[in-house]
Amino acid sequence: MRVQIRRTWPLSRVYSFGVSVGDFYDELAQDYHVVYDDWYAAIERQGAALDRLIRNRLANAHDVLDCSCGIGTQSLGLASLGYRVEGTDISERSLERARTEAVRRALEISFARCDFRDLGPVEGTFDVVISCDNAIPHLLTEDDVARVFRAMRTKLRPGGLLIITVRDYDKALVERPVTTTPQINSGPPRQVLVRLHDWDAPDSPIYTIHLLVLTEGPTGWNVSHYSTRYRAIGREALKLAAEHAGFTRVRWNEGNDVGFHQPVMTALREVNKPRNDP
Ligand SMILES: C[S@@+](CC[C@H](N)C(=O)[O-])C[C@H]1O[C@@H](n2cnc3c(N)ncnc32)[C@H](O)[C@@H]1O
Repeated sequence: MRVQIRRTWPLSRVYSFGVSVGDFYDELAQDYHVVYDDWYAAIERQGAALDRLIRNRLANAHDVLDCSCGIGTQSLGLASLGYRVEGTDISERSLERARTEAVRRALEISFARCDFRDLGPVEGTFDVVISCDNAIPHLLTEDDVARVFRAMRTKLRPGGLLIITVRDYDKALVERPVTTTPQINSGPPRQVLVRLHDWDAPDSPIYTIHLLVLTEGPTGWNVSHYSTRYRAIGREALKLAAEHAGFTRVRWNEGNDVGFHQPVMTALREVNKPRNDP
């Protein structure tokens, strides 16, 4: 068996933080489905879980902004259930793939590049704003987390619903896992995803993730390496950030209880604007 290194990041790029989050996801876009054993099933499963949450809290919701849509896992699932979805993301190549996947399913979804810390360029307001699958922990400072909640609030109609999903960081901050079970995608081609987490220090919330994607080819296995940084953020910190930005009825749901693979936070934009609000 021959192992080929298809692409590697020079260490200096990884550790000098020279690889932006956008670059990381641009590189990963074609392989992103490998984070699931069956991405197509995940689209349906996550769409159905989000739909139940939305219906429970906001029965007549129709317009959804997915402000970290990536290749479209949740946007595609919700659009196929009849929601009008707009997807934004910082990674142009992820957006390109999301557009292709939407066309393949004959779904009309508008996808545009936008940093979720400033959603001003997105026109209009929505019944629901979502940011799913650990996008917010890419923000490495409290200020940026505060910004993203303020930005998401500006895109919600009064009474609108916010949905955030992230890794279970309350657990990870205690256990400090250095890896997770490899993900096997039966293909074809067969692919294996290995994750390594390098914590900056035993008490630091910041870590570098290395994703190694092994893809079976005609002459052997190719290895692709992608790397980026995260800041682990617990439920209480996210709840406080949401409340500080003006959200009310902030609730955490266990993933198992709502059929999602991660804990899910929901919150409402208050109906009346608080005083002193710009
Ligand atoms: C783990 S992926 C999840 C993507 C998508 N929600 C899904 O599950 O397929 C996280 C996404 O957050 C996006 N992201 C990270 N930082 C962002 C920012 N500042 N503005 C907009 N999107 C961002 C990334 O480009 C990436 O697509």
